[in-house]
Amino acid sequence: MPLRKQINTGKLPSHVAIIMDGNGRWARQRGLDRIFGHQQGVNALREVIETAAELGIRYLTLYAFSTENWGRPDEEVSALMEIMVQSLNNETDTFMKNNIRFKAIGDIDRLADDVKKRLFETINLTSVCTGLNLVVALSYSSRWEITEAARRMSVDVSNRTLKPDLIKEEDFEKYLTTYGIPDPELMIRTSGELRISNFLLWQLAYTELYFTDKLWPDFGKEDFYNAIIDFQKRERRFGKTSEQVLEK
Ligand code: FPP
Repeated sequence: MPLRKQINTGKLPSHVAIIMDGNGRWARQRGLDRIFGHQQGVNALREVIETAAELGIRYLTLYAFSTENWGRPDEEVSALMEIMVQSLNNETDTFMKNNIRFKAIGDIDRLADDVKKRLFETINLTSVCTGLNLVVALSYSSRWEITEAARRMSVDVSNRTLKPDLIKEEDFEKYLTTYGIPDPELMIRTSGELRISNFLLWQLAYTELYFTDKLWPDFGKEDFYNAIIDFQKRERRFGKTSEQVLEK
């Protein structure tokens, strides 16, 4: 049976998060500069966004640039920023046509003015869209996000708008950049690395993890289908027993 037919569209993960890894290795294996790998990565990205929108997935979060990525050679950082701006120049109309709402999470203030301008334009233009929510993590790391949340929370405690004894998990979540977005149900990482790498540490608490050896530029529609089929075979217990879950 074709993979698409094996997917139960009534049991889709509402939020899929992806660590797009392996662009550099993909390029090196072909004797090319790493930057070609990132360019090729954008094609994979387009295919996955289209597939997620077509299936009816509500949220897709992509790790595009980590806090740690600022430490890469200047030329690679500039090339990645350039690719991002170019991609948004090319794709914003398509997002609007396909009802895709764009959002960015991370330390956006740290980005150059032209990148911020392009991001805010796409965010504003697509703010009326009601289909797939496309969330791009940029200059993002989970420890940055959690530290920032704790810092802002302390400010509210010190100006007495928040009482420390009454702080619950839901209150803490309000300070995260993902506030209002449901936690991912499925997290995919490409390129064979078996790590979370400072990505959505709070939000991935109960997420199903899916790792594949495919390098990101080689990851396509069928690979995305395979990840969803694998997810749909798993039993999600959230700390309960199998019997309790099956009783529901
Ligand atoms: C990881 O591969 C990939 C990245 C750090 C960048 C991913 C970015 C894109 C695909 C472009 C994003 C564009 C938009 C519009 C969001 P790596 O370089 O770490 O690969 P390696 O582990 O093989 O070196």
